[in-house]
Amino acid sequence: MIGIADTELMREIYGIPNNFAKSSLYDHFLCYGERPIFATLAASDHRRKRRLSTSFYQKPSIQNPEVEAFVRDRLSALFKQINATLECCCPQDSINIYPLFNWFAFDNITRLLYGTSHGSYTIERDCWEREILLKLKQASIWGPFRFNFPKFFGSRLSKTLLRNGYADALSALGDLASWNSIKLDQVCEHGYSETGRSLFQHLLTSTDKDPEALSQRYISSEVLDNLNAAQETVSVALIYVAYRLSRHPDWQDRLFAELAKLPREDDGYPSFADIDGMPLLEAFVNEVLRLHPGTSGRHERIVHQGGIHCGDVFIPADVIVSVSTIALHHNEFAFPSADVFDPNRWLGGSYEEYRAMCRCFAPFGYGSRICIGRFFAELQIKILTAGLCLKYHLRIGHDLIVMEKTMRQTGTMDAVPVGLRCDLILAPKGIRTLEG
Ligand code: HEM
Repeated sequence: MIGIADTELMREIYGIPNNFAKSSLYDHFLCYGERPIFATLAASDHRRKRRLSTSFYQKPSIQNPEVEAFVRDRLSALFKQINATLECCCPQDSINIYPLFNWFAFDNITRLLYGTSHGSYTIERDCWEREILLKLKQASIWGPFRFNFPKFFGSRLSKTLLRNGYADALSALGDLASWNSIKLDQVCEHGYSETGRSLFQHLLTSTDKDPEALSQRYISSEVLDNLNAAQETVSVALIYVAYRLSRHPDWQDRLFAELAKLPREDDGYPSFADIDGMPLLEAFVNEVLRLHPGTSGRHERIVHQGGIHCGDVFIPADVIVSVSTIALHHNEFAFPSADVFDPNRWLGGSYEEYRAMCRCFAPFGYGSRICIGRFFAELQIKILTAGLCLKYHLRIGHDLIVMEKTMRQTGTMDAVPVGLRCDLILAPKGIRTLEG
């Protein structure tokens, strides 16, 4: 496999005209034996399937009042839960925000996939969903092992030899698949047309457009794949937002000053339309996604017949290539002092500098297979970031050296923090912690 860090080559490989096929790595992402969009290899099959979900995930369909309302509802539930936890702690105690943000992402995606009245209440209820999400974290940690040693993964010998959450990693995806099947049965029983807009309803009503592609099993696989993709990537983005806010109190103050000027809705937070246009917030979120992309960059494609040229280099047909998101995001030409977290780089530079950064910035992938859920992800990330800045002071909960170690990202498809936790000290605004 060849890793790519060149923007021209990235455009050639992932761009719409070429759209190279995905490698067999994606066989790991079959659901119920079917290939959802993400696991579809050939470009032609992919085009057909993606067309059916595209209109559902377009920006105006996602960033609309119905979706915003349930994300805000979940934000209020999350902050209520955080406040209840804080009441039982001393002011200098840290709390592990990873599960909390994971529940937020899960509750949101379930509303989008099954309809608002079929969403989960993981934030406020101690439930099976929480257990499955915990196990899925282990599945992410063990992901590289699964991809690199597929024959050994799950074998009797591996079960005897391996510990540290391995058993959870083995059963997690099966548990999520069972949960999804039960949920879809419930939705069908109650009448999916009465639950508001949902991906499930959208795909069921699209069957007349393409009955062949849309068997009931295929639809279930698409919903399951989106459920898993969204719960993991969005919660990873959210914890790194909070982690970076904690490490950069000056940015907490700047964001607060920007957001505090905006008019508030009934729930006490500004509207997404107002938040979305805020330059400091945009710069901050971009910088978090640059240094902490939620998927580390095994986006494997197979070079098609004839091979490809890039400058003096020729890559022959059938070679597997993958852009490295990390390498792109550390391009020193586009991002001078690339290791430094500096949202200012997104503000006030020249048009050429901004363009160079955008060309090297691909947290959601690039081209015909760019993340279909990115507008939904952005909506949640911006609403939660704004809410956090308006409501809390954040500080890291451990010594910085310890935190840097546990927050290092794994090299998996889902680049979770190796410590599988993020301990922060949160103080509601107006109440300072003991240390001030
Ligand atoms: C911060 C959050 C997210 C990040 C960083 C992210 C990242 C990515 C990346 C890099 C890809 C391209 C993978 C490749 O080319 O191999 C991708 C594809 C995909 N993502 Fe996301 N994603 C996020 C959120 C979501 C959400 C919320 C959903 C569902 C609602 C979703 C569903 C998908 C699907 C279905 C694909 C496959 C698209 C295709 O092959 O046409 N993602 N995502």
